[in-house]
Amino acid sequence: MSKLSELLKKVYSHNPVRVEDLGYLLSLSKEEDLREIFAFADSVRRQFAGEGILVRGIIEFSNFCRNSCFYCGLNKSNKTLSRYRLSREEIMYSLSKLSGCGIKTVVLQSGEDDSLDPYWLKDIIAQIKSLFDIAVTLSVGERERYEYKLWRDAGADRYLLKIETTNSRLYKSLHPGMSFGNRLRCLQDLKELGYQVGSGNIIGLRGQSLKDIAEDIIFFQAGEFDMLGIGPFIPHAKTELGNEPSAQAALTLKALALTRIVTKDTHLPATTALGSLGQDFRPQGLSAGANVLMPNFTPQQYRRLYEIYPGKRCIDEPMGSCSISAIGVARRKKSTKSGCSTSSR
Ligand code: 5AD
Repeated sequence: MSKLSELLKKVYSHNPVRVEDLGYLLSLSKEEDLREIFAFADSVRRQFAGEGILVRGIIEFSNFCRNSCFYCGLNKSNKTLSRYRLSREEIMYSLSKLSGCGIKTVVLQSGEDDSLDPYWLKDIIAQIKSLFDIAVTLSVGERERYEYKLWRDAGADRYLLKIETTNSRLYKSLHPGMSFGNRLRCLQDLKELGYQVGSGNIIGLRGQSLKDIAEDIIFFQAGEFDMLGIGPFIPHAKTELGNEPSAQAALTLKALALTRIVTKDTHLPATTALGSLGQDFRPQGLSAGANVLMPNFTPQQYRRLYEIYPGKRCIDEPMGSCSISAIGVARRKKSTKSGCSTSSR
């Protein structure tokens, strides 16, 4: 057996996995080595997540944000961005489209909107749960425990809050005014309240080492998350990191593959960011461990305003159709209802 295949088996079977082993695997760059890592991840995906692609429709309902994250185009210092907040009616309209496509999970995402009334969101969650047979995932950032509880009691099933990086020093340097400790507190609260919790990171941040990414993967293993979004950094001109280079697709795919190998049955999206690196790398993601696609159901006129990073895929396509290119080469096409180009489960 080759040294690489032995190491992959070791990483697959050890909990906790060793940071040196992950760091070494992340450093490999030969074509044939990458192919072996991706193939191993693909087999772990097949074994633990099956053949189906999960489809989770996303509605970006507000781009207001109180934070100044150094990488994100929604940061509050970006005065050139028009801000929007969807009305309840607009959200319910998007929801009907999404549900009409047979999609069984909606992700309601926003910036950290100070004006978000927790009771307004609670009523929307309750209305969605009463009208549709659908899981509700929230992704609205760091909030108080009582708010998480309010939404959970109203029927919210899941919550996404990426840790972004587990290097607390790097975290601090990229998130002025925020606290790594509070982010961990939020993840803990969400778990205790019975949410299925998703997290994730950004690959290729300025000052991030391979060891940092390896530590992220160890954090993912220990956290037993329901979902993990592993996305490449893409520079946005109206941010502190606007002149930094984009993440390498190969490094992002390696991190994705190793996360699959280490966490086994976690849901891993082929992220929109992975589809927005110039080329659409989501098909490669789906062959290297990913099993989720997240088509966009934000109303067309608002979509370009949710500009976390530039060149975001699916800005101009009709609602929900943005998984089409990835689906075209993917392994498993399921139902296609008329007007929907996504498969669903
Ligand atoms: N590049 C890649 N991902 C980004 N995000 C924010 N800004 C960027 C960027 N420039 C990601 C963060 C956040 C998610 C909604 O978008 O990980 O959690």
